[in-house]
Amino acid sequence: MQANPFRPGFNQAPPVLAGRSAVQAAALDALEAAARPGVTPRPLVLVGARGVGKTVLLGEVAAEAAALGWPTASIEVRQSGVLVAPLIERLGMITDTVRELPAGGRLSIDTLTAKAGVLGLVDVTVAAARKDSRGTATAFALETALADCLEVLADRHSGLLVTVDEAQFTAREEMHELAATLQQHVPDGWPLVVSLAGLPSLRAGQRHVTYLERAEWHELGLLDRAATERALREPASAAGKPMDSDAVEPLVDASGGYPYAIQVFGSWAWRSARHDTRITREHALGAVTRGNEELGAGLYASRWGETSARGRSYLRAAARLFDEQGRFSGGEVAERLGVSAKELSYLRSRLLQQGTLYAYGRELRFAFPGMAAWILTLHDDD
Ligand SMILES: Nc1ncnc2c1ncn2[C@@H]1O[C@H](COP(=O)(O)OP(=O)(O)OP(=O)(O)O)[C@@H](O)[C@H]1O
Ligand SMILES: [Mg+2]
Repeated sequence: MQANPFRPGFNQAPPVLAGRSAVQAAALDALEAAARPGVTPRPLVLVGARGVGKTVLLGEVAAEAAALGWPTASIEVRQSGVLVAPLIERLGMITDTVRELPAGGRLSIDTLTAKAGVLGLVDVTVAAARKDSRGTATAFALETALADCLEVLADRHSGLLVTVDEAQFTAREEMHELAATLQQHVPDGWPLVVSLAGLPSLRAGQRHVTYLERAEWHELGLLDRAATERALREPASAAGKPMDSDAVEPLVDASGGYPYAIQVFGSWAWRSARHDTRITREHALGAVTRGNEELGAGLYASRWGETSARGRSYLRAAARLFDEQGRFSGGEVAERLGVSAKELSYLRSRLLQQGTLYAYGRELRFAFPGMAAWILTLHDDD
């Protein structure tokens, strides 16, 4: 029997990446366009709540790039907001690695991966956490690093993918610097694709960066039922323990289409059926209980722990509204708490920033679908 195929954990590629074909197609389009001489496509920006699969998709784009023989400079921005200096560093590493490979022919990603693996270039993200490096890099240095990198790559008929994860943390001046440099070189038609991912707050935070305004934005939401079902069924079958039809439904319902929860429930269903050759409804119902416990004790409780007392009242009111009417807005939460929406706007922003809630049109939603129900199980003094 094969091992549990489900991957409950952040940054873990799922066995089946379901429901994201539009973004995958857009990424392929961008790479193919960039590979043609004289075209630099618009950056691709992926936004969505925590655990919807942004990092996994960036990895997928990197895999597509690798298939073309293109390396990826991947940066994960931290709270410090630094982006430019680690990007320069990463570009320098790629340039040095590629320069040692023969020019003229096509770059084989195998050679590159072997070489890069040694340098920790592929699969390893440079931690952009060094505060002291902030401001030491000039726009000129970034420009030079990019130009050098693209030159050695062009000699090998290759291009470059740059991915920036947790982009909402990027300090405004750092984003401006990146944007200005890239903008300036659009006419050069560099074979370059830039993809950013972050919480939906990225849009508000970087409003003034025209480069990003012109980007191709993709909002990643919850998966629909059909995609959720695929994400649960296919890995189980492929790993030799198919799910009965009536087993899938409770798992789909419990996950609410939330990618992280899909992996949690799938994983518990697999475990419940440890001694069997199929996953039955009974296994699935057991998995729903265990999965809800895991999400509650882990994910929701840690969010709750990070939330102030006022934030908790806000979330309680939101959870009640959600329970009663299946939807809620900031205005309704304020009304429920008997204060003006304006007075609560800082709490709303804080919870959005934290990624516990996200804005969906004029409504607000819980980033984790089961969190509202979990909050209602808490005592008032929790
Ligand atoms: N399309 C999908 N189908 C099924 N499972 C998925 C899908 N996308 C992501 N997952 C699963 O969801 C979980 C979260 O993925 P990921 O870490 O990429 O989310 P994220 O959006 O980057 O979260 P964060 O904002 O916290 O960084 C992982 O367990 C992953 O395997
Ligand atoms: Mg992520």
